[in-house]
Amino acid sequence: MANPINVVVTGAAGQIAYSLLYQLASGSVFGSEQSINLRLLDIAPMMGVLKGVIMELEDLALPIVKDILPTDDPNLAFKDADAVFLVGAMPRKQGMERKDLLAANIKIFKVQGEALDKYARKDVKVLVVGNPANTNALICSRYAPSIPKQNFTAMTRLDQNRAKAALATKIGVGVEKVQNVIIWGNHSSTQYPDAAHATVEVNGVTQPVSKIVNDDKWLSEDFVETIQKRGAAVIAARTMSSAMSAAKAAADHMRDWWFGTKPNEVVSMGVVSDGSYGIPKDIIFSFPVTIKNKQYAIVQGLDINSFARSKLDITAKELEEERTEASSVLQ
Ligand code: NAI
Repeated sequence: MANPINVVVTGAAGQIAYSLLYQLASGSVFGSEQSINLRLLDIAPMMGVLKGVIMELEDLALPIVKDILPTDDPNLAFKDADAVFLVGAMPRKQGMERKDLLAANIKIFKVQGEALDKYARKDVKVLVVGNPANTNALICSRYAPSIPKQNFTAMTRLDQNRAKAALATKIGVGVEKVQNVIIWGNHSSTQYPDAAHATVEVNGVTQPVSKIVNDDKWLSEDFVETIQKRGAAVIAARTMSSAMSAAKAAADHMRDWWFGTKPNEVVSMGVVSDGSYGIPKDIIFSFPVTIKNKQYAIVQGLDINSFARSKLDITAKELEEERTEASSVLQ
């Protein structure tokens, strides 16, 4: 078994972490031959709950977890970190404006960025799940200048998985037959779930999803809206936000970053914009990427029609506004 890597989970006493930790401990992210040390960060009042989570991790009796550190100190949590899941965030409370939520969270991500800068490995892979995920990732990276900006990503994999499942249901095939649906932009209701480049295997032949669905109105209206509002629909039904599916998506995102994407496979990740597709630079925007040797590359040259262009511009504008708000809070 390989020497342990240090894996950090923040919000470790929360509901997403509860599902994510099992996937880490069972080897489904870094592989069953890679031992891990878990660094579990939460706030001081949650240390009692975290103790219970650790008891359960011990009781899993799984071989790859070597050492577990519970802490409320980011400086300890991020020491020599190899991979980091920033899940912990301030939840929206009743009567709280979106602006207030953003203000509360970017302060958390500033502190965590500073701690990563000082203590984490310079090749650390950081996945931000806590909302507003894209802008939190941007702020975190800004306060960790010694770590490449490319090492900070935001999660839109849950949206991708939702889109894939919705298309598979519509077509009447298994989810594994649908590939390369893209999530563009912010992990918010302005995101653009795009099936224009997606494919589906029907009777052994790979074909464009648009051809098989054969209903442009459904693809550009119902499908887009369903994915944009899926998170809210889960909250309405469960009275809590998506957790099992969010944790699985976080595992998918990090596994692909670590081991690479399969040939011809495209996945979506919130990454720092390099200006591709005319998206403004210096925002964390979800793009289609392929991954090799732990480095992602934004897929180039996709055809963007005028409908897609307008959707990309809306979500980019929202991210620019979030960046402006964040900067004004941090001044
Ligand atoms: P939760 O409320 O169950 O757990 C959050 C945990 O974070 C709590 O234990 C809390 O004490 C902790 N926390 C708060 N401030 C912290 C800090 N400064 N340092 C460390 N820990 C801190 O929430 P849940 O359901 O686990 O969700 C976590 C976040 O993930 C939320 O922001 C949620 O909106 C977001 N989310 C993102 C998704 C995405 O697709 N990007 C999907 C679903 C949820």
